[in-house]
Amino acid sequence: MRVIVHCGVVAALLLSMALAAPQGDHEGHDHGPHTAEHHHHLHHGEDEPHPQHEGQHNQMLSQPNADFAFTLYKKLSALPQFQSKNIFFSPLSISMALSMLALGAKGDTFSQLYQALGYAEMTPETVNEAYEHIFHMLGHNQEHMQLDASNAVAVMEEAKVIDKFLEDAKHYYESEAISVDFSKPDVAVQEINKYIAKNTNNTINDMVKEVNPATVMMLINCIYFRGEWMEYFDLEETKKGDFQVDVNTKASVDMMQNNGFYEFYEDKENFTTVLRLPYKGSASMIIVMPDEGKMKEVEDSICRHHLKHWMHAMESSNLIVHMPKYSISGKFSLKDTLESMGVVSAFSHTADFTGMTDQKVRVSEVEHKAVLNVDEKGTEAAAATTVEIVLMSAPVQPKTLKIDRPFLVFITDYNTKSILFMGKILNPAAE
Ligand SMILES: *[C@@H]1O[C@H](CO)[C@@H](O)[C@H](O)[C@H]1NC(C)=O
Ligand SMILES: *[C@@H]1O[C@H](CO)[C@@H](O)[C@H](O)[C@H]1NC(C)=O
Repeated sequence: MRVIVHCGVVAALLLSMALAAPQGDHEGHDHGPHTAEHHHHLHHGEDEPHPQHEGQHNQMLSQPNADFAFTLYKKLSALPQFQSKNIFFSPLSISMALSMLALGAKGDTFSQLYQALGYAEMTPETVNEAYEHIFHMLGHNQEHMQLDASNAVAVMEEAKVIDKFLEDAKHYYESEAISVDFSKPDVAVQEINKYIAKNTNNTINDMVKEVNPATVMMLINCIYFRGEWMEYFDLEETKKGDFQVDVNTKASVDMMQNNGFYEFYEDKENFTTVLRLPYKGSASMIIVMPDEGKMKEVEDSICRHHLKHWMHAMESSNLIVHMPKYSISGKFSLKDTLESMGVVSAFSHTADFTGMTDQKVRVSEVEHKAVLNVDEKGTEAAAATTVEIVLMSAPVQPKTLKIDRPFLVFITDYNTKSILFMGKILNPAAE
């Protein structure tokens, strides 16, 4: 029997990964959600033919989405503001929001989005249908597990939105259209935050702090996950314990404990211990704990091939698992990172969103927030992504002009084209 202490930054990433590709990368293991899906097509009408090969559709995006997740993770973890910080995000939420944005994009704006998302070799039909199927799967909540995604297009009432964009967003992404008055920024912020809070079970309440007054539309994606561990950690066993943050720093945490059979793998060659903590239902948390001092090396090299390899290599062992109980959240502004991944046009004055609206618009910001709560009973995780779309001829921020030095003054009459008065003001305080 072994005793191991688990955690790590990568762990958090992989939870979201597990959500993104429930079984995409470990064929041959359980097929829980698939089989369930084949039995009840709740979202299809009675007479509607069942799409063939749903399994293939569901998995079609799992590779590009995993690649996108790792690329994004590496970019974020390299940012100065995230050095020695927790990182937690939902790659699926971001991929979905950007795919929805791509519905309205054309030309370079479109191809740069698809390139960054890893969909360059796919047609929009394939991608959109794959998302449609992911949605059908997500909606089916299992008894002890909840996994929901929701999308919305918040539209300024008088915005000239192209119907087909809203129809496609609804058809493929189950996106509801909500009318929001962005010219009243306080009201708009409240309404959007209300939508996000509702769709994340009140775990994300203050996503949007302000909106650009030139906003005509905002795309919103929310993901909410709640799962119960297959094996609870024993409440009585949770005790204060040390967590070695780095060579010089220890943190005192609530350390949970459980003894049971867990899938586990020690990859000496890649300096990593891997553990799978299954939830009741189809999801798992995968923890990847690099050896002491090896986080950087593992972070830099990790990709979906490692994950796939580990999923196959893990074997059931009797373990006493010690794992911290924790709650973290992360907020990211993704504009710069996405630009560094080649999504340039969407943010610039060359943006082509003619599939979305007749007005000249561009994306001003992509924001993401995610929260994670882990305790003895299970896990609650939620994420929201917002894509703010603004008019290009944005009312530019008012510039300040101070008349605070001597000036000339004229009073003119347009009709008679006469200078009625003129003068020079050297000191307005003098008589
Ligand atoms: C929302 O959260 C509450 C309390 O945190 C929990 O009891 C409830 O089950 C959650 N709702 C859903 C739909 O998961
Ligand atoms: C290390 O990772 C690589 C890439 O996934 C894999 O091929 C190799 O088998 C791993 N090493 C061990 C000992 O598992």
